[in-house]
Amino acid sequence: MTDSPAPHGTDPEPLRRRALAALSTARDRTTRLTDSVDDRELTAQHSPLMSPLVWDLAHIGNQEELWLLRGVAGREAMRPEIDGLYDAFEHPRATRPSLPLLPPAEARAYAAEVRGRALDVLGTTALDDDRPLVRSGFVFGMIAQHEQQHDETMLITHQLRSGPAVLAAPVPPRAEDPADLPAEVLVGGGPFTMGTSADPWALDNERPAHVRDVPDFHLDTAPVTCGAYLEFVEDGGYTERRWWAPEGWEMVREHDLAAPLFWHRDGGQWLRRRFGVTEPVPGDEPVLHVSWYEADAYARWAGRRLPTEAEWEKAARHDPVSGRSRRYPWGDEDPAPERANLGQRHLRPAPAGAYRQGRSPHGIGQLIGDVWEWTASDFLPYPGFRAFPYREYSEVFFGPAHKVLRGGSFAVDQVACRGTFRNWDLPVRRQIFAGFRTARDVG
Ligand code: AVJ
Ligand code: FE
Repeated sequence: MTDSPAPHGTDPEPLRRRALAALSTARDRTTRLTDSVDDRELTAQHSPLMSPLVWDLAHIGNQEELWLLRGVAGREAMRPEIDGLYDAFEHPRATRPSLPLLPPAEARAYAAEVRGRALDVLGTTALDDDRPLVRSGFVFGMIAQHEQQHDETMLITHQLRSGPAVLAAPVPPRAEDPADLPAEVLVGGGPFTMGTSADPWALDNERPAHVRDVPDFHLDTAPVTCGAYLEFVEDGGYTERRWWAPEGWEMVREHDLAAPLFWHRDGGQWLRRRFGVTEPVPGDEPVLHVSWYEADAYARWAGRRLPTEAEWEKAARHDPVSGRSRRYPWGDEDPAPERANLGQRHLRPAPAGAYRQGRSPHGIGQLIGDVWEWTASDFLPYPGFRAFPYREYSEVFFGPAHKVLRGGSFAVDQVACRGTFRNWDLPVRRQIFAGFRTARDVG
């Protein structure tokens, strides 16, 4: 049983270049997401579930100031009076528009000023330093991941806004010849290494590496498609209590749910709204914008179940030949455009069966990228977990209220996506870029 190796080595110079590239990629994306709408839309609240985009922008800068400038470099606070405004725990999202937030021009200038100084710190800090925050460039990686996570959040806000499209992207690659892709495969039981202790930029909840035993199970080779999900809809799935967890059934009744978020029926046809464009629901594309309760109900209707988080990770990392847990389904090499749909290169998942080069040794596809995948599991700490560097990243969310999502969507950047990465949300959430695949026991 072994963990994946430290993926990018421990030499300070390559790590510094990697940190610089990750920070720059994130800032380019933040700029695209915030420059594509006018000041009125930047400061508006597009949904009570989301912050105004201008809040995310200044919050990105404020976290970078806190950790890189004040934390690593010991600098004075640039604007101590704004810290409270951008503390996610002080103000819930719904109340953020009424705060005296920095207006767009000031938020941009603040984030840019912080970044300029942060790059000085990166250039002058020894990344083989012994401080745990600095060692292997962890805190720079953490800040790049934080910005990318908010970029995904901002893309969700874009999806929730009304009005014409302002974002565009090429269509993702087509599915490969489906003939060689069985619907499900058997993943052999036995122990494997879950989590990581060796990946220097892994976040606290992915640590430490530990052995888990998982019995034999069958897993879908692709996420559940809109076409398959439509069969559940058309079969009256949303009208039959027996498929639903009790709280899920309450949610369906209370909000009169009948289909995934952003879908509506127009005569005989199902349409969906996607980043300001209305289009027919594509049958071969992984379903998006379903809550955990909907995923769970579909699986029960299909005579199946959601995979546990450990099953998901074993399918995504375990190499049956070497017995080792790797970083990705295809091995330890970084994601490339032929392997996974990541980084907002496309504004939708690719059809089920795409990305042959991204498949696992078992032939399971699209585990990384396309859609976040709901798992059956509650968000819990691994044995030996230690909060680092702050309890509010993971620890305060542990418990049965949140379900784990794995694998990352088309809106996740590769710096924040790997076989060990754990995301979580409430089981009622539908605005996130989440879908699922199903599993079943053997026998
Ligand atoms: C890991 C995506 C659940 O956005 O709530 C951003 C990431 N934490 N700022 C979130 C996060 C602090 C977090 N998720
Ligand atoms: Fe944040």
